[in-house]
Amino acid sequence: MEKPIKFALLGSGTVGTGVIKVLKENAHEIAARIGAPLELAKVLVRDMEKKRPQLANICVTDKIEEILEDPEISIVIEVMGGLHPAREYMLRAMEAGKSVVTANKDVVAQFGKDMFDMAEKQDVDFLFEASVGGGIPIITPLKQCLTANKITEVMGIVNGTTNYMLTKMTECGMEYDAVLKEAQEKGYAEADPSADVDGLDAARKAAILASLAFNTRIQLSDVSVEGISKITPMDIEYAKELGYVVKLLAVGKDSPEKGVDVRVHPVFLPMDHPLASVHGVFNAIFVRGNAIGEAMFYGPGAGSLPTASAVMADVIDVARDIVNKTFGRIRCTCYEEKKLCPLEDTKSSYYVRLLVDDKSGVLGTIATVFGNEGVSLKSVVQTKQSVVEHAEIVAITHEVEHRKILCALEGLEKLPVVDEIRSMIRVENSRG
Ligand code: NAP
Ligand code: HSE
Repeated sequence: MEKPIKFALLGSGTVGTGVIKVLKENAHEIAARIGAPLELAKVLVRDMEKKRPQLANICVTDKIEEILEDPEISIVIEVMGGLHPAREYMLRAMEAGKSVVTANKDVVAQFGKDMFDMAEKQDVDFLFEASVGGGIPIITPLKQCLTANKITEVMGIVNGTTNYMLTKMTECGMEYDAVLKEAQEKGYAEADPSADVDGLDAARKAAILASLAFNTRIQLSDVSVEGISKITPMDIEYAKELGYVVKLLAVGKDSPEKGVDVRVHPVFLPMDHPLASVHGVFNAIFVRGNAIGEAMFYGPGAGSLPTASAVMADVIDVARDIVNKTFGRIRCTCYEEKKLCPLEDTKSSYYVRLLVDDKSGVLGTIATVFGNEGVSLKSVVQTKQSVVEHAEIVAITHEVEHRKILCALEGLEKLPVVDEIRSMIRVENSRG
């Protein structure tokens, strides 16, 4: 057995504490798998006064230099979160010749290139398995196990908070505000839940997944984002009646003709789609490749031990590289510059819900507006409303460019018989 490989932990919150636990419980197996024991040398904290029972008997510091300048430390794990100073600490650690493992999707999505460039320059490893899907292995499969494929689609439920909320709305008919409050009480949603419910957390993960799947750098600003705050129990009821469930999906598609299209938005997903049965805080990522066909990766998308499982897998990978003296076996895989497909050119079916005057000829007038804009209707349902002399019309369209559905809605809005456009949600027609 070789001498211990020392690492430092930046941050000891939910994930950091999980890392310490996994190392403690599985030290023997981990050492055997590496061929050398792992040793936690130092932990960076913000506040030296704060009581942290998980750090008893571990060397704690509030000075990053004590880690960066320690020649014995060869791996730095960043689990502080946020963009700054996480980005700077990771760059400085690599500059000092240390490999870096992170769970930080914010930094990977926004400053991934800086990180890979520094890792390459310094000939160290930069690994980030836990940044998407928590404990689910998806980064390594995309970078290694599926690398013989041309991947055309990567689509997933990558935010546990919103999946929990939509599951509750579906199962219990709860309103959005009530279910958000419950998610906050259970500790799933943050006090400021906007990154989750507005889709930004999922958009960061979508940018990372699409960059890896399609070998081109997708920036956060390239991802079109829509959250779940407009989803109502009524939409969920209609979805059920029509054979769908409502999910917040991160979608990445690559087509040679149209380019790469990456977005996050709610969808009506057929009930028999593999992603439709992913409930609660679980995550799943569905990948389509030209050799494997379809594959789905499913598991806990967050949590102390599941996320630590992914972090420690990366640490073990780096430690094996240290033992074998081979770094950077897999560098940045964004070796192409693919064109992006503008949102208006993306194609989908749509569910449209309208409140209209309940009188003869209305249905025909509405169908004409859709038709004039080149939107063909697959089904239309009309339901009488409690509002006197009003009806609700629910239309599902055939596949059409986003631009055309927007023009149709603009036309509908101008009709005196249309009182309100209540919802427009994409419908995913593939059955997986
Ligand atoms: P957390 O519970 O809030 O813990 C963060 C820790 O970092 C806290 O102990 C905090 O110190 C410390 N910290 C923050 N800024 C610091 C600074 N400038 N210097 C020193 N210490 C600092 O967060 P977490 O849930 O463990 O998440 C950590 C990272 O993992 C994030 O990037 C997150 O997105 C990612 N991640 C988390 C999960 C999950 O399930 N939680 C899943 C996947 C990925 P204090 O104790 O002083 O506040
Ligand atoms: N906030 C995230 C979620 C967990 O709800 O899935 C960390 O990525």
